[in-house]
Amino acid sequence: MSKTISIDGVNIPFADGQTIMDAALVAKVYIPHLCHNPEFKPHGSCKLCTVNVNGRPVSSCTLPASEGMEVENMTEALNNERRAIVQMLFVEGNHLCPTCEKSGNCQLQAVAYCLGMMSPRYNHFYPPREVDASHPDVFLDRNRCILCELCLRASRDVDGKNVFALSGRGIGSRLVVNSASGRLGDSTFAVTDRAAQVCPTGAILIKRQGFSVPIGRRIYDHKPICQVESEGKEGEHE
Ligand code: SF4
Ligand code: FES
Repeated sequence: MSKTISIDGVNIPFADGQTIMDAALVAKVYIPHLCHNPEFKPHGSCKLCTVNVNGRPVSSCTLPASEGMEVENMTEALNNERRAIVQMLFVEGNHLCPTCEKSGNCQLQAVAYCLGMMSPRYNHFYPPREVDASHPDVFLDRNRCILCELCLRASRDVDGKNVFALSGRGIGSRLVVNSASGRLGDSTFAVTDRAAQVCPTGAILIKRQGFSVPIGRRIYDHKPICQVESEGKEGEHE
């Protein structure tokens, strides 16, 4: 008999070694997340996937599932905390959705809709962040970077290049590029790298392919991210 955990009262099976997030993704139960992508080792940094396990808050993307866990996920209290995290991310960058090519395909925007975010809540403080257009095929706009390290993990673990790293602390944290000049165009980065495809926001954009899927027909334009994740991502437009 398979082992199970309960998420919001629904029993779902898991295999040894799976995290709560792994089990939820297989069962198509949506736990909001930003820094997690099942392709890569969990990072546990965004804290959006925090759930209560037997009453205690934990990151579901890093905690292994174990028999009999009672997990609370979509509660109003947890979603309030998640909304605050997303609101902080919005005011920390320049997430000007109506002008962003990623609109409709952006996980940050989609999670904000899912959580019912209606305002930025905090004051915008627009930290100075460099835009890097030096690469012939890829545009890097750090103003939209949420420091999830997905590009870093993809470059290191899949592409074997270590193009990206994080530098600095707190509000000074920023994504840096491993090249003598610090510019993407002087690195070994290629548009065919996995790292060029994984950004959940519009921080890494491929040049010369804007609006290949028109706004209004993109993945989250018609279905909220919770429904997309629950039904599977067939037909996703990246
Ligand atoms: S550029 Fe994109 S993938 Fe890389 S850390 Fe920033 S948000 Fe994450
Ligand atoms: S998805 Fe778990 S901490 Fe980011």
